[in-house]
Amino acid sequence: MELFDLHGKVAIVTGGNGGIGLGIARGLAQAGADIAVAARNPDKTRMAVEQLGGLGVRAVGVHVDVTDATQIQKMVADSVDALGGVDILVANAGMSIRKRPETYSIDEWSTVVTTNLTGVFACCHAVYPQLKARGGGKIVTIGSMTSIFGLDMGAPYAATKGGVVQLTRSLASAWARDNIQVNCILPGWIDTELTQGARRAMPRLDESVVDRTPQKRWGRPEDLAGAALFYCAAASDFVTGTSLAVDGGFSSSMF
Ligand SMILES: NC(=O)c1ccc[n+]([C@@H]2O[C@H](COP(=O)([O-])OP(=O)(O)OC[C@H]3O[C@@H](n4cnc5c(N)ncnc54)[C@H](OP(=O)(O)O)[C@@H]3O)[C@@H](O)[C@H]2O)c1
Repeated sequence: MELFDLHGKVAIVTGGNGGIGLGIARGLAQAGADIAVAARNPDKTRMAVEQLGGLGVRAVGVHVDVTDATQIQKMVADSVDALGGVDILVANAGMSIRKRPETYSIDEWSTVVTTNLTGVFACCHAVYPQLKARGGGKIVTIGSMTSIFGLDMGAPYAATKGGVVQLTRSLASAWARDNIQVNCILPGWIDTELTQGARRAMPRLDESVVDRTPQKRWGRPEDLAGAALFYCAAASDFVTGTSLAVDGGFSSSMF
């Protein structure tokens, strides 16, 4: 058995058209997986598919808004039609609205929860019959340092990312008998469009992240590829319900 070989496997990566999702998709493609890039922005998706196709695997774009369960069902059906099945789901799509807790409207709260928590559950729920029919599979969810720490400017975001860890454990426990492993990656501060927005909103963020991170740098999307490949490959066949921080030491260090 090849521990880190994904040839013959098909992965759906939500939010795979940029940032962390594309970093992970590239890592899985380099290991041989065919990739369905699932997101909303068609131009970004087209560019990501071109990039992944250049790595010698089959790559397709499938449209999805993860706040819509019907679109999620179609995402899975389109991926199966295009690539012949699904073995791996990376439930990565996510967003934040940055403000103090007392200033959120309930609609803003719901937008974050529907995208980051309900959306992850709905993707796992929709892909489960496919994985079960294949005799097993892998699901990777994406938490955050806010799965562990509170965030004054992101109460709903932190609530969803804490919830993703507990959802991961629950699905892992329920679907172990189906040979489906479910694990979570907790990224530290990674340089993406999401955090570029945060940097604009918080001028001192750039230097505080570097200062607070023992490895003294921001993470890059490709830093997530190794952990994701481990969780998506045979190497992790007896690993389920876990969370792995990819954070340059952030969560291990008081200062
Ligand atoms: N960057 C960090 O430091 C960091 C740290 C911890 C955790 N994370 C998590 O990592 C994941 C990726 O974040 P990122 O930093 O790579 O952010 P990003 O660059 O903003 O990418 C977010 C991705 O999610 C997709 N997306 C957002 N809302 C969606 C929706 N409703 N339906 C479908 N796709 C949607 C976006 O594509 P479209 O706009 O085309 O739909 C995009 O591909 C998120 O779950 C985030 O919370 C990030």
